[in-house]
Amino acid sequence: MSQLVVRRLLVDMEQPIARHWCAGDAFRTALFNALSMSFPVGEQFFIDAVRDGFKALRPEQQERCRAEVQGFVGQEATHRRLHALYNAHLERLGLVNDWEPRARERLKQMEGLDVRHWLGITAANEHFTAIFADFMLNNADLLGDQDPRLATLWLWHSAEESEHKSTAFDLYQALGGSHEWRVRWMRRVTVFFLTDTLRQTIANLRRDGTLWRWSTWRSGASYLFGRRGLVTLTFRPWREYFRRDFHPDQQDAAASRRWLEANADLFVPVRA
Ligand SMILES: [Fe+2]
Ligand SMILES: [Fe+2]
Repeated sequence: MSQLVVRRLLVDMEQPIARHWCAGDAFRTALFNALSMSFPVGEQFFIDAVRDGFKALRPEQQERCRAEVQGFVGQEATHRRLHALYNAHLERLGLVNDWEPRARERLKQMEGLDVRHWLGITAANEHFTAIFADFMLNNADLLGDQDPRLATLWLWHSAEESEHKSTAFDLYQALGGSHEWRVRWMRRVTVFFLTDTLRQTIANLRRDGTLWRWSTWRSGASYLFGRRGLVTLTFRPWREYFRRDFHPDQQDAAASRRWLEANADLFVPVRA
């Protein structure tokens, strides 16, 4: 079981967000903004899944992972809160969150289902966030230096995603979740996650007036499929999830530890 620290990030989210805050790059800005739009609803679902999964454990199992579950809930709740402030600025820029209502509709179908399904979905999403987080931390320069506050927000969030990547997975296993359902959920989550990310990124670009610019597509192709591209570098770690003996801890978390050590002046631990 991991020790998860909840941290209060020392960034001012009251200040408005610039239209192309990410290195002046329309594509990257639209993609990160799209992901931010999914967090308040998504992370609340992960919190509910982990809380309900914890309640379904036997008392002796609960004792072993009580602190980790509390840490997980605290970290995700803090992410939600800051991303809700972030998203309010995006609304003021004229962007519309179409992802959240769609996700809410879909989640209604989950009501009453076995908690292992909730955890299977959460574990799959957490794998996505963990490999994306590792990519972000190793390619931090791609966030640019126009808004150090937002770069910090993304790197802190990434570092904590990497820290708590095993929590939902371990609960799923502890409750006897099967390998078959775990990979089935990963396939579905992959389709939904990629489709939703693409749709929201395109919607953001359309509302920003930059969808049909050559520079937008060139930047998109290089950020996703270039030598240091997101898809190029995360495809292999994504595929690992389908191995029968996969565990999130098998994937490297050194970038997260390094960032947290080197940037301790940017946050205050609120609970260990
Ligand atoms: Fe998070
Ligand atoms: Fe997470």
